[in-house]
Amino acid sequence: MLIIAPSILSSDFYDLGKDCEDVLKCGADWIHFDVMDGHLVPNISFGVPILESLSKKIDAFYDVHLMITDPLFYVDSFAKAGADMITFHIESESDPYMTIEEIKSRGLKVGMTLKPGTDIKHLIPFVEMIDMVLIMTVEPGFGGQSFMGDMLPKISAIRKHADSLGMKDFLIQVDGGIDENTAKLVVKEGANVLVAGSYVFKYEDRKIPINKLRSAETDL
Ligand code: DX5
Ligand code: ZN
Repeated sequence: MLIIAPSILSSDFYDLGKDCEDVLKCGADWIHFDVMDGHLVPNISFGVPILESLSKKIDAFYDVHLMITDPLFYVDSFAKAGADMITFHIESESDPYMTIEEIKSRGLKVGMTLKPGTDIKHLIPFVEMIDMVLIMTVEPGFGGQSFMGDMLPKISAIRKHADSLGMKDFLIQVDGGIDENTAKLVVKEGANVLVAGSYVFKYEDRKIPINKLRSAETDL
């Protein structure tokens, strides 16, 4: 069963709370929350207080994608603010083993991710310690970019490795340029969590894109 996680980076922030409620009502499984610090990626988005305001009022699974230089330092704050999963970049400056332990010690799920230019071999050793790998299919920093098809082999490499470890239900998330067409390509390679920002939010009725993404599995 696919997990659909709209990225609220593409919301009009004037309506952020309403947009979260709306996508959940339209069938979204998770809220993908993109945090950018202007260092690890060339953009600044939102952080702890916004997550706290949302999670206090809206019951959801908050999938927090930290595009920040020192994720380890912020795990505690995001955990207290209502994160359910924290995904951090292997290119960050935090020790990955300590960061994984810190996230787990808060009872949260752990994800790790990498930029398009980083070799997938750097994440392979961590698969057995974590819940999810996120494959970035755009340069992280902005919504609305084009899907990079040359990232597809990274998905199959992780799926193959997880299968070899007997981790059949291991989560592989894909983020960047996902729409009804690219969703099929990534699901075919073994992805089971789809992030979509601009594709979901461009529709007035978000049931339409969410259902189309979900059908990527049945159309295979
Ligand atoms: C990019 C973010 C994505 C982004 C996806 O740095 O991690 O989550 O919002 O947006 P779309 O789906 O428009 O590519
Ligand atoms: Zn993201």
